[in-house]
Amino acid sequence: MKISRKILNRRIGIVERYQEYLPVTDKTPIVSLNEGNTPLILSEALPAYLKLNVRIYYKFEGLNPTGSFKDRGMTLAVSKALEEGGHAIMCASTGNTSASAAAYASRCGMKCYVIVPDGQIAKGKLLQAFRYGAKVIAIRGNFDDALKLVQKITQEYPIKLVNSVNPFRIEGQKTGSFEIIDELGDAPEYHAIPVGNAGNITAYWKGYKEYLQLGKSEILPKMLGFQAEGSAPIVRGEPVANPKTIASAIKIGNPASWKGALSARDESGGLIDSVTDEEITWAYRFIAEKDGVFSEPASAAAVAGVIKLARQGYFQEGTRIAVTLTGSGLKDPDFALSFDDRMESIEPDADKIVKLIGV
Ligand code: F0G
Repeated sequence: MKISRKILNRRIGIVERYQEYLPVTDKTPIVSLNEGNTPLILSEALPAYLKLNVRIYYKFEGLNPTGSFKDRGMTLAVSKALEEGGHAIMCASTGNTSASAAAYASRCGMKCYVIVPDGQIAKGKLLQAFRYGAKVIAIRGNFDDALKLVQKITQEYPIKLVNSVNPFRIEGQKTGSFEIIDELGDAPEYHAIPVGNAGNITAYWKGYKEYLQLGKSEILPKMLGFQAEGSAPIVRGEPVANPKTIASAIKIGNPASWKGALSARDESGGLIDSVTDEEITWAYRFIAEKDGVFSEPASAAAVAGVIKLARQGYFQEGTRIAVTLTGSGLKDPDFALSFDDRMESIEPDADKIVKLIGV
């Protein structure tokens, strides 16, 4: 029996879905895990908590195939690497890029080399890179050191670099904006996003501008980028030699797409600000415990930023705020279990359970 795509209403990846807006041809082999098409979840708890008449939407990228937004960029970067005859890819990573690169490489039989800062990668991300079969190399240095190394190596050897300095990564990731506009009917007035290497804020801004030009939206959002206070080079206006934060994904002292982030900020009339680890942690717990959305700490930096700005009276009433939640909370089990939650271990006895829960 021939199964029609229509009947199945098959979930397709971003390259197939948005091919007319991406640098692909009929000859481009599409390496996809059906990424994208992630939910835009309306927050009930946050506007109520902030006593603010706005609609806040979480673009939950943690529901991508490898659990982060990187899959949008990686499907295109790896497809183009394959089209160009590549056999191997390489990246530096704080974790998510390496997980995504490893998955897409495995899918098309490419070799994947990932360079990570030793001891600074969340467990879930590291185990993904291993399980998808990548060669993982840990350096005694930070992400910025790793990025310099992979840039040097991929210039000298036939290995494709798949960090967001690869323009196909940005092209793929801009589809996040497309999906938001497709769903809301227009762009939101504000878009909040965590900033690490600054590729994603660059990509979202590109997507918003392109959809406006195509007549698919009428407004552009103000882009609101948030760095962790201990790793906030763009906010400080200079690289940070030893970046520090519990949000290991955005522990980056010298972002590659620095200029792209500044353009997004200045062209949109938005801002780039920092939030403390305490604020990130509070937001991380709030959206899980009150809104049922479990993201990783770096993602919560954007929520913390929205809370910070709301308290300053920044947002206009009646507007819409989209927040990219970049990765799944399951990525970082050590952080997730670092609070004072207690699990009781008792005899399998209903009376004892009832007593414990106090009903
Ligand atoms: N959120 C998460 C969960 C990330 O993994 C990253 C970046 C960011 C936000 C920031 O995005 O770099 O485009 O500004 N992670 C990269 C990595 C650096 O190696 O996985 P950005």
